[in-house]
Amino acid sequence: MFSNLLVFFAIIVLSACDGDDEFANYTITDRPFPPHFTFGVATAAYQIEGAWDTDGKGEQVWDTFIHEKPDRVSDRTTGDVASDSYHRYKDDVRCMKEVGVDYYRFSIAWSRILPNGTVDNINTEGVNYYLNVFKELEANGIESMVTLYHWDIPTDLEKQGGWLNPKVVDWFTDYARLCYTLFGKYVKVWVTINEPKQICHSGYGTGGYAPGVVSPGVGEYVCARHVLLAHAKAWRVFDKEFRSALGSRNTIVIDSDWYEPATNKEEDVVAAEIKRQFVFGMYAHPVFKGDWPDQMIENVGEISRRQGFNQSRLPAFSEEEIALVNGTYDFLALNHYTTYMVTAVKGEEYPKVVSWDTDSKARSYQKDEWQTAAIGWFRIVPWGFGKLLRWLKKTYGDIEIVITENGVSDTTGTLRDQHRINYMKSYMSHLLDAMYDGGVRVTGYTAWSIIDNFEWTQGNNAKLGMYYVNMSDPLRPRIAKDSSKYYSHIISSRCLLDSCQ
Ligand SMILES: *[C@@H]1O[C@H](CO)[C@@H](O)[C@H](O)[C@H]1NC(C)=O
Ligand SMILES: *[C@@H]1O[C@H](CO)[C@@H](O)[C@H](O)[C@H]1NC(C)=O
Ligand SMILES: *[C@@H]1O[C@H](CO)[C@@H](O)[C@H](O)[C@H]1NC(C)=O
Ligand SMILES: *[C@@H]1O[C@H](CO)[C@@H](O)[C@H](O)[C@H]1NC(C)=O
Ligand SMILES: *[C@@H]1O[C@H](CO)[C@@H](O)[C@H](O)[C@H]1NC(C)=O
Repeated sequence: MFSNLLVFFAIIVLSACDGDDEFANYTITDRPFPPHFTFGVATAAYQIEGAWDTDGKGEQVWDTFIHEKPDRVSDRTTGDVASDSYHRYKDDVRCMKEVGVDYYRFSIAWSRILPNGTVDNINTEGVNYYLNVFKELEANGIESMVTLYHWDIPTDLEKQGGWLNPKVVDWFTDYARLCYTLFGKYVKVWVTINEPKQICHSGYGTGGYAPGVVSPGVGEYVCARHVLLAHAKAWRVFDKEFRSALGSRNTIVIDSDWYEPATNKEEDVVAAEIKRQFVFGMYAHPVFKGDWPDQMIENVGEISRRQGFNQSRLPAFSEEEIALVNGTYDFLALNHYTTYMVTAVKGEEYPKVVSWDTDSKARSYQKDEWQTAAIGWFRIVPWGFGKLLRWLKKTYGDIEIVITENGVSDTTGTLRDQHRINYMKSYMSHLLDAMYDGGVRVTGYTAWSIIDNFEWTQGNNAKLGMYYVNMSDPLRPRIAKDSSKYYSHIISSRCLLDSCQ
């Protein structure tokens, strides 16, 4: 009797959420990637380069954050050496050549070329390192997609407030202009800033990421405003002074999980939409539409008032700033990994807490039955990818989209990484369905990552590479996993299965 009741209850709960059921009998598509679709792999400077204080490189916030408190990383490793790509970038390029990628997305370490963050002190050896990487890629026929900022603001600038200081807009723009000048002829696509949500929410909200500033619901909004202004100003400089001569493109990379309503009830459907606005819209609306999402302005304004703030904790953009930020993209660049369910939060208790999370009036969670990867938050939910892509088209129009990161972790570094092959196959299948059935205009896919690297606060525990790197071996050999061969098959055949239509 008791168990019957439980089963009955479970049926009601399950039938209320559409996500999983809808794809219960999902089969991998045999439709091919179109001829002009391009494939790449991605890394970030701090996660691969090592050489943290070599050849005149200045200190940046992740060096400082981890050195001052090693237990901020779960296995107490650091990025001091990481995959040692500063010395072994030719090995990385050899791996990419073997897989057959069209392009390599990597980042420049601001403090390697500007040790103090400002352009009055340029480190020639750092500049030469990147020139060597570009030349190696060029010699191997691999194009460059370059991220200017992947979370590593120079420590000297952080000492002056970092992303909370309005001066960061000019510090970043000067740095960007220098990079366009030095490296422009090698770069096909520029990315100004990677994943502003992690920079601001984790870096200046919860403090879980460098620089570890704890200022939820206040600092993170100030950071977001400055990040968007810095991106916009650097994009405008590119647009005016470099675009026509270089013929390259420039955009911002925004990350988003998918947020699925937990039930079909109106309040949950609305809550999930608002959550998407707080996660993706917070950074995308200003760039693609011109201002913060209306629902954010309303929620943060209302809750701030009730909390006794004399103005909204969400700082407004002026008319000029809206005009500056609006339209600063060449295409939409998306990083995506996982999915959450969302329920509406009612009750009067939430406004006591000052945070971005409670400002959304939505609670998100992941289902226990979803398959998990090594990183705690990271569950494998392929259908969420397709839903997110269709939502992007609905929300931002018929815009070109490039996937700039997608991938999965493990803890063992196994070379027989069938789980990674399954992940790539099922995520890319939902991507193709969104293209064929939803008319979503995706033109490129970037796998994270080509080699195992240092995974931020998960250290060397979480491995995301298609090549294994033994982080205890001083020579850091790169060894192909099965997934690298599968990705190579996709690129050469343009097909997820053995053969396609
Ligand atoms: C999945 O397939 C089974 C067996 O063919 C069928 O009974 C079931 O209704 C299908 N489920 C969905 C959600 O389509
Ligand atoms: C510049 O950075 C270097 C390396 O981090 C440091 O040794 C030096 O003191 C800094 N100079 C200034 C003026 O802050
Ligand atoms: C942003 O630019 C678009 C296209 O020019 C325009 O339609 C829209 O009104 C602008 N947004 C704002 C808030 O000014
Ligand atoms: C809001 O309060 C702060 C101090 O909490 C004060 O510095 C600021 O001037 C006030 N702003 C307005 C618009 O009243
Ligand atoms: C990693 O390298 C260390 C040091 O060379 C070696 O002892 C160990 O066996 C290697 N591990 C694997 C899995 O190859």
